[in-house]
Amino acid sequence: MKNSKTDLSQTVVSQSAIDVLLQENRKFPPPADFQKNAWIKDEAIYEKAAKDPEAYWAAWASELQWMKPWKKILDWKPPHAEWFVGGKINASVNCVDRHVFSQTGHHDKRNKAAVIWEGEPGDTRTLTYWDLYREVNQCANVLKKLGIQKGDCVGLYLPLIPELLIACLACARLGAVHSVVFGGFSAESLRDRMNDAQAKLVITADFGWRRGNQIHLKKVTDEALQGVNSVKNVIVVQRSANSGFQCAFQEGRDYWWHQLMKEADSYCEPAETDAEDMLFILYTSGTTGKPKGIVHTTGGYLTGVYATTKWIFDLKDEDVYWCTADIGWITGHSYVIYGPLSNGATVLMYEGAPDWPEKNRFWKLIEKYGVTIFYTAPTAIRAFMKWGNDFPAGCDLSSLRLLGSVGEPINPEAWMWYQEHIGRKKCPVVDTWWQTETGSILISPLPGMTVTKPGSATKPFPGISAEILNEAGERIETGGGYVALTKPWPSMLRTIFNDDERYVKQYWSKWPSKKDVYFAGDGANRDQEGYFWFMGRVDDVMNVAGHRIGTMEVESALVDHPAVAEAAVVGKAHDIKGQAVAAFVTLKSGHKPSEELAKALKEHVAKKIGSIARPEAVLFSADLPKTRSGKIMRRLLRDIAEGKALGDTTTLADPAVVENLKKQYESLES
Ligand code: PRX
Repeated sequence: MKNSKTDLSQTVVSQSAIDVLLQENRKFPPPADFQKNAWIKDEAIYEKAAKDPEAYWAAWASELQWMKPWKKILDWKPPHAEWFVGGKINASVNCVDRHVFSQTGHHDKRNKAAVIWEGEPGDTRTLTYWDLYREVNQCANVLKKLGIQKGDCVGLYLPLIPELLIACLACARLGAVHSVVFGGFSAESLRDRMNDAQAKLVITADFGWRRGNQIHLKKVTDEALQGVNSVKNVIVVQRSANSGFQCAFQEGRDYWWHQLMKEADSYCEPAETDAEDMLFILYTSGTTGKPKGIVHTTGGYLTGVYATTKWIFDLKDEDVYWCTADIGWITGHSYVIYGPLSNGATVLMYEGAPDWPEKNRFWKLIEKYGVTIFYTAPTAIRAFMKWGNDFPAGCDLSSLRLLGSVGEPINPEAWMWYQEHIGRKKCPVVDTWWQTETGSILISPLPGMTVTKPGSATKPFPGISAEILNEAGERIETGGGYVALTKPWPSMLRTIFNDDERYVKQYWSKWPSKKDVYFAGDGANRDQEGYFWFMGRVDDVMNVAGHRIGTMEVESALVDHPAVAEAAVVGKAHDIKGQAVAAFVTLKSGHKPSEELAKALKEHVAKKIGSIARPEAVLFSADLPKTRSGKIMRRLLRDIAEGKALGDTTTLADPAVVENLKKQYESLES
């Protein structure tokens, strides 16, 4: 299960797919109406930002509210950066207080909706900026009373309800660090994350709704916390006051959110957090079995998300902005909470599934709330396409003025469908490339200026230096290679929590002579006009329905099963999800392949990691294809899983292994 070497031949997109992309020559200039009022329409901004990136970023930072000014814009000791050195800034003040209290350059938004929320069963809540201000303050006081101090870590394991956003901002107010764990992750995943960050407190809910089912988050939390010594208290949000739902409570450890909030004071002095104080940790998958705790700090992160939200979504005061991501992922952190709220926007949040109770739920929400900006993932767009045009056609989507895409490469067909059937050919589409590590969008069109091409994320945001490099680290002007970032940027990750060595090795060591260049782990092509066309990961990371999953994480979960001797996992191309998990397994003696066992192994992975990692296919094999030096040949396994003609097998120790596997797989498919 070891093969961490990166190699462009391992990219998930085949040459034929690349050829199709590069033949894509449709172009879409910004609609004239849109352009007229857009923030940015002049190309000169690229040059201006490139000339003096530090001054450019400092100008963005000064649009935020600082408690003390910074002394130095950037301190860059590769690969460690500090931005806005010595500056003091509180993220909750920037997302809430400054929209509530009038001040120069800002008008009072206290009665403006900050969050419009709808639960899956149709229950609704609207929080004005004033409501949000009160709740964040109260929640901060609740945490304080339970002993949470600056620098402490708080775990959040919640459905997509306003309390999750409130809790994040309350942590930020105290200078505490939040670690959000997506509600679909298992007890074991939650346990590992809480232990790694030594969380002191966890906030969860009795349950959340998903496709009409109650997801029992408190139950999972209880299981997870057996084996976490650092957590002293659990706060439980009651998802619905009259559901009659019962969950176990541990006397002295567990409290109801609503009871604590009732007793809490309505003002909490915001902590004077340093620009470089940690704002949050967010775990993401890498090339080993252990997820990485990505560390983001306060001043630079806020600057990056503030700037990109404003320009890429062309955000205006009147907009109703909807990013469909769960807050459990980076997209939710940056573009549900910190980006839009630091801009004083109205954010729509929806708890549940897009096809519940009908496949038109998203379009109904857009119609009902008059959504103007809509940001979602290609995997969702492909599902909408499959469900058919009637669902969106049956709803009034005329409020929309901009569409966004994130999380994986968008195929031109899906891009065109999105533009035509959701955007009615009137909305610019921004395909935004970035990562948990980058904190904010780095490559994207600017909607009032960029001529878009379906399938291309276009160009680096002003102030961002992105390049394509080859294996030797040489710059590729036109053609394919590795995506690299050649200058630091404010919202970059600062390190991996508790593992700075891994940070240096993973991101800054691809090219030994370029220790100040960030290796993104993505492959891309750049065309004659400098446009980026992303091709997928070049490492052992899969992208399943826009979610990042490490092949080795799934392999570790599989070998944890008593019947499994060895496992190799690959992402295979999938029409809707982009990739699906395919597992090749050899069994210990005494165990026989069977459909029941395949099912049990799928369940085992779902239980160990979470259902997002459940393999779609499990294939048993007496042996796995290995090179003579013992490395598993994933490329071959992927070919087998995708039913393709096999690539070069000459370096294999035993070519018969592959032939056997292929035969088995074909008989399984037929
Ligand atoms: O492979 C790229 C893909 O998603 C990876 C980052 O995943 P994650 O950290 O979970 O963040 C997802 C949301 C930002 C990248 O390395 N990716 C993300 N956006 C795009 C993309 N691939 C192609 N085009 C995109 N727009």
